Amino acid sequence: MCHCLKLSRRNPDNPENPGAYNTMSPPTSPQEALLSWFAENQRDLPWRHEYHPYQIWISEIMLQQTQMDRVTTFFRRWMQEFPDLTTLSEASEHRVFKCWEGLGYYSRARNIRKTAQILASEYQGEIPGDRKTLLSLPGIGPYTAGAIASIAYNRDVPVVDANIERILARLLNIDLVPGSPEAKKLFWTRAEELLPPGQARNFNQALMELGALVCRPKNPDCSACPFAPHCLALKYDIIPERPIPKKSKKITPIEMATGILFHQGLLYIQQRLADDVWGSLWEFPGGRMKKNEVPEETVVREFLEETDFEVQVESKITTTIHHYTRYRVTLHCFFVKLVLPGSDPVLHAAQDFRWVPFEALQKYAFPAGHRKLISFLEKYGFPKAEG
Ligand code: ADE
Repeated sequence: MCHCLKLSRRNPDNPENPGAYNTMSPPTSPQEALLSWFAENQRDLPWRHEYHPYQIWISEIMLQQTQMDRVTTFFRRWMQEFPDLTTLSEASEHRVFKCWEGLGYYSRARNIRKTAQILASEYQGEIPGDRKTLLSLPGIGPYTAGAIASIAYNRDVPVVDANIERILARLLNIDLVPGSPEAKKLFWTRAEELLPPGQARNFNQALMELGALVCRPKNPDCSACPFAPHCLALKYDIIPERPIPKKSKKITPIEMATGILFHQGLLYIQQRLADDVWGSLWEFPGGRMKKNEVPEETVVREFLEETDFEVQVESKITTTIHHYTRYRVTLHCFFVKLVLPGSDPVLHAAQDFRWVPFEALQKYAFPAGHRKLISFLEKYGFPKAEG
């Protein structure tokens, strides 16, 4: 039997008191309970002081794929480097990427810069408050548009992300698998119906906060939950079954190899093509291992294909592993040297190259696996002598 329930906001059928919550509801409405809980329990986040639209936009983009602890550190650094939209719109891609390095998913940084340029040239440097205009900007989807419109401007616009889907699935006992078009539509409709007019800023943040602190995916703290008296999944003792679990995503392992070419005290780095994966980031040459190849062979082949440099492997440095949403990248790292020193590279898979001292690597933005390799060398020592 489906216990799925739609919570009505008000009970206009009650002529005594049309503003009262319907007969299913206990005296305090779920909305009031959640807002009071938020007033008491919200975290002190740097963008919650002024609710400045620029700060809300940046925080929401950072939060799309990154944990809160990490975001607050990067957010503070970002605001020192790019305190306002004009500064950001005038910054080079290099500076923006460098400040983003460590947050991953660099398309977010590229879109932030593009959006800043569009807003500076076409919107007098203002962040729009209406959902439709927000949705037309690079990197802003339905969730982020809702978050900016509601949190920055307190517009009556709902937000739904995986955390909010989980809360709604439990509160209203929604037995659809999140992710299907049918489920998406239903979650957005329910979020809109629940939203108390004029309170979107606090209400939407309260849902986000509840998902992070109380209504967690595992071990939710139902005893501390303001929705507990209203929660159907709690009532029917089916919290672990809501939301209905999605089939787990397959993680594809990828094996790669890379080489640090060390010549006359300098390291060779190259900048990836703009429209490639990790576009415009810097890297040591390398790539995916082919079937039946050992990593040493991959490095030699990749150097030749990407730069025309003939190299030979000197020694193994380390292996780094980095997890992405759908991939696990294992990167085998080596020192290599030129077989025939003296020539310049011919770039087949890069837009630019540099020979740099080890200390200068910190000025460039690298993909995570390569940054881990650099950190490994910083920690365990980089050979100062000629390689
Ligand atoms: N997750 C995404 N956006 C958030 C916000 N503004 N507050 C708390 N958690 C969030």
